[in-house]
Amino acid sequence: MNVKRIAGALGAEITGLDLRAPLDEAAARALREAFLQHKVIFLPGQALSPAQFLDFARTLGTPIEYPFVKGIEGFPEIIEVKKLEHEKVNFGGVWHSDTTYLDIPPMATLLLSKEVPPYGGDTLFANQVLAYESLSDTMKRLLEGLQGISSSAKADVSKTREDRMRTDGNDAAPKSYEARHPIVRTHPETGQKALYVNVAHTVGIEGLTEAESASLLAFLFAHQVKPEFTCRWSWQPDCIAVWDNRCVQHNPVNDYHGFRRVMQRITLAGTRPA
Ligand code: SIN
Repeated sequence: MNVKRIAGALGAEITGLDLRAPLDEAAARALREAFLQHKVIFLPGQALSPAQFLDFARTLGTPIEYPFVKGIEGFPEIIEVKKLEHEKVNFGGVWHSDTTYLDIPPMATLLLSKEVPPYGGDTLFANQVLAYESLSDTMKRLLEGLQGISSSAKADVSKTREDRMRTDGNDAAPKSYEARHPIVRTHPETGQKALYVNVAHTVGIEGLTEAESASLLAFLFAHQVKPEFTCRWSWQPDCIAVWDNRCVQHNPVNDYHGFRRVMQRITLAGTRPA
């Protein structure tokens, strides 16, 4: 297994593994270590069937279903993240950590690229441990113990789901979800502290007035995605990305109107943020 860092903040490209077959114990352990260290890993050249993709996901955790969009035929845990030629809005096209509006948000997400545009359609990632560590000690003390309120109904992100809900929506899903989580969470495997608010889903801070929340959140939303905390991945078909939602945010860039981009996505069960 070869690991090559792609940026100063986070992200590594991993080659030398064939994910069509089960990984042996040593390879699975090395992969998890790379995932924890680099926070988002990219595995190009993996032309997996849905069954193989799901089997690979199971080596990292327990696949769960996404609430708002149905899975592909025969695979409820795999959704298609796509933007079609005539569509203008891309799925999840706002900085976020996945589904923080759930009481137990997913620990990781896997994306497998199927069809990519001739240019554009990159995904940006931001390291929330670095974002936390670069705050002043006074700001860290202020944030300690605060709970952020996440909602699935924030307008900017709701609109990025509309096309997929129209074509593949899960009619049984509740209208919206809301959850409260620490603004600074401690990673259950590495012990690192990370910022855990995001502009897509965080609507307020418990115990603060609306104006107080708005000012503090505006600062955090701008701070946590500064260029020096980010990396950028340019997709080819058959590449798998795995990111750690406990300490990473992502933002797919919507700059390829007129072209198709089709990805398969699996999320893995997490633990209650603490
Ligand atoms: C998402 O899961 O938010 C979509 C990411 C992407 O399409 O790059």
